[in-house]
Amino acid sequence: TGYITLDEGFGNTGACESKITYIDGEKGKLFYRGVPIETLAENSTFIETAYLIIYGELPTRRQMSDFSQRVLRNANIHESMMHFFDGGFPFSAHPMAILSALLNSLGSYYPNMVTNEREHDLEYFDDAAALLISKVRTIVAMSYRMKNGLPLIYPKRDLGYSQNFLHMMFSEPYHEYYPHDDITKALDLILLLHADHEQNCSTSTVRIVASSGANLFASVSAGVCALWGPLHGGANTQVIKMLEEIHRNGGDVNKAIEDAKMGKKRLMGFGHRIYKTYDPRAMILKEAAQKVLKVVKSSDPVLDIAQTLAEKARNDDYFIERNLYPNVDFYSGIIMKAIGVPTEMFTAMFAIGRMPGWIAHWKEVAERVKGRITRPRQIYQGEIDVDYMRMRDRE
Ligand code: CMC
Repeated sequence: TGYITLDEGFGNTGACESKITYIDGEKGKLFYRGVPIETLAENSTFIETAYLIIYGELPTRRQMSDFSQRVLRNANIHESMMHFFDGGFPFSAHPMAILSALLNSLGSYYPNMVTNEREHDLEYFDDAAALLISKVRTIVAMSYRMKNGLPLIYPKRDLGYSQNFLHMMFSEPYHEYYPHDDITKALDLILLLHADHEQNCSTSTVRIVASSGANLFASVSAGVCALWGPLHGGANTQVIKMLEEIHRNGGDVNKAIEDAKMGKKRLMGFGHRIYKTYDPRAMILKEAAQKVLKVVKSSDPVLDIAQTLAEKARNDDYFIERNLYPNVDFYSGIIMKAIGVPTEMFTAMFAIGRMPGWIAHWKEVAERVKGRITRPRQIYQGEIDVDYMRMRDRE
């Protein structure tokens, strides 16, 4: 094994070539297919950006209309899948467990789309991609309704992507929920800003599964499992948990800052492995968060604590010297809490946003002319030629 180089966590190993997303961590820049994230946040929508990420170019009017129609047509989930929400899972099931199971099961509901035969799967790719982008949102909303004992709300034909999600989450059978435009826009921005982030843990997982020839639905379902962990998509939940804990302990922000400085407890939602300056996604969401807080006229003390904490950390030498700025999870958590999305759903929301990225990476792997299955090596540290000891001799 002498020639194998150890790079635990793949911190310094390029595992693939990709044309989807570029991050310049020193300058705090993020590009989807070369387009700066700020430009997209200002001019685009989640669905248009999804098209850009998946197909490599911004859509023409015609392409956009076809893609949106395809997404819209797929908004409902197969009626027989509704049984999963009617006793198929216990109420206590985590939304990420429901999501990964149902995404994988989609392959069995639409067997014409995915067969694990590459040529066939690529032929049906456009249908499968639009179906996933649409249905992931419906599954997440329905899991929230089911878990809270609320009647299931079906998607509507005349609503945009993010508005339809808010409708499925918060409307009642005889009472429509009409979100303020700033709320819909903020949610759309959260999704857009999560749409891809190059070789993060879940995307690498999708690519590894895809490299074996597995179908799109199976591959993104594996991505959901990787995203679930607190070191990845789970961090947004931790931000609110931390803020609630500060509130329970009397709301003393200074103590939280001092504890972080002494290495007792990190400030969740601060710092980033790649960005050594402001996370450009956080910068955009900060503005959106301020608008949303104004609209909901929040009287939630936890949200006040968040604002005070960010302000204090911004002026504290410890955080300045270490380039610790609020990251995307800090502000996305604040927005989602303000609009009434329960903390337990945060990571599933991240999955809705990341879906276009996972799909684009699956396609990039599937279309490779010369692609090898991903099969890392290891540096074996165990013993060899160990004798088989009989059970009676093992005590
Ligand atoms: N609070 C307090 N101190 C911190 C924090 C923090 N959140 N993050 C880093 N530090 C300190 C750390 O103790 C170290 O100090 P010193 O040099 O005195 O030992 C210094 O800053 C450098 O830290 P590091 O561990 O080398 O930084 P890293 O790049 O390995 O870690 C991180 C990045 C995101 C894991 C870390 O900043 C962290 O744990 N943040 C809180 C969790 C969080 O918000 N995660 C979400 C990240 S964004 C999600 C995404 O993009 O997918």
